[in-house]
Amino acid sequence: MATPNLIVVLGATGQQGGSVVNTFLAQPTHWRVRGITRNKTSAKAQTLASRGVEVVEADMSTPSTLTAAFRNAHAIFAVSDFLGIYFDPKNADRPKPGQALNAWVAEEEARQLRNVIDAAAEVEGLERFVFSSLSNASKWSKGKYTHIYHFDSKASAEEYGRREHPSLWAKTSVFQGGIFLNFFTSPAGRPQKSPNGTLTFTIPWPPTLQLPWLVPSEDTGPLVHALIQSSPEQSLLGYREWASTHEIAAKLSTLFNVPTKVVKADPEAFWAEILSPGLVQEFTEFFEYWEEFVFEAQESPRIVRPDDLEIKAQLPGIEGWIKKQSWGFD
Ligand SMILES: NC(=O)c1ccc[n+]([C@@H]2O[C@H](COP(=O)([O-])OP(=O)(O)OC[C@H]3O[C@@H](n4cnc5c(N)ncnc54)[C@H](OP(=O)(O)O)[C@@H]3O)[C@@H](O)[C@H]2O)c1
Repeated sequence: MATPNLIVVLGATGQQGGSVVNTFLAQPTHWRVRGITRNKTSAKAQTLASRGVEVVEADMSTPSTLTAAFRNAHAIFAVSDFLGIYFDPKNADRPKPGQALNAWVAEEEARQLRNVIDAAAEVEGLERFVFSSLSNASKWSKGKYTHIYHFDSKASAEEYGRREHPSLWAKTSVFQGGIFLNFFTSPAGRPQKSPNGTLTFTIPWPPTLQLPWLVPSEDTGPLVHALIQSSPEQSLLGYREWASTHEIAAKLSTLFNVPTKVVKADPEAFWAEILSPGLVQEFTEFFEYWEEFVFEAQESPRIVRPDDLEIKAQLPGIEGWIKKQSWGFD
């Protein structure tokens, strides 16, 4: 029997990478999985090992660890963690005088991703590199939105890879994750129950704004698997379904027979209540960018949607996710 191919998964203990691990572990005749973590002794890393993942320590900040971690890979899934860098207390003093922390984090995230790209380019026998990126907000908004650091950082590393490593890019697929649907079960986004039983969604974007929703811990794996089976050099906008928040609330209302309401909050006030002050402008601009420019951004010839791929991922709709959540009225 042929030896299964090896996929190396960065972020294996996280949402996107964890989903990729799940999908590929389920195909043991075709794939074996190496999961990367900074700490092999963490509970999540040990759980992965107990499920048959080869767990290897590496840090995206340290290039030599990546070289070892990527050895013999047929496929690599790469994802970075902007907010993890932002909230790491040891980074608080790293910005240069006058530099905002998120501006420094963007530089650091891009540096980490360039390390990953450089190491992937050296892997003999690599057949596919999948790079979790985001839209180039400064470019597509024509300079209007320049503070969406967690987008532009990834996009700048992507441009670096395309420019500096054309042979790697000829076997690369880009994955742009849609908006995480679990925002609605986070403390900030969870609908609140009023005394009359109505569940009220309070959001900082227009209730009718159509957004591409992704359940990162469930959808990333099937979408990455479909990408790997399809031709390279495609950038996928990864989502299970487009919907407005009005539509999501209506689905919840129908499924659970409960009244729902959607209220639009002032964006800056909304984000100021839940984020550190340095992130308020970034997240305010984030949704303004989606509202104004997302369709233009999707016109980039490289962006495809899941149905455009040669191989289609089978994903449940948003209802499937809503049904599984606990909304606090049952
Ligand atoms: N919120 C949204 O709507 C949205 C939408 C699309 C994309 N995104 C992007 O998604 C990314 C986060 O993805 P996620 O939610 O899957 O992440 P996550 O669940 O927070 O997990 C982060 C993962 O990254 C690993 N990691 C962090 N720093 C590392 C380093 N220096 N070296 C090696 N591994 C490292 C962690 O591994 P260990 O801790 O085990 O080392 C962990 O597995 C962010 O960059 C964000 O911008 C967000």
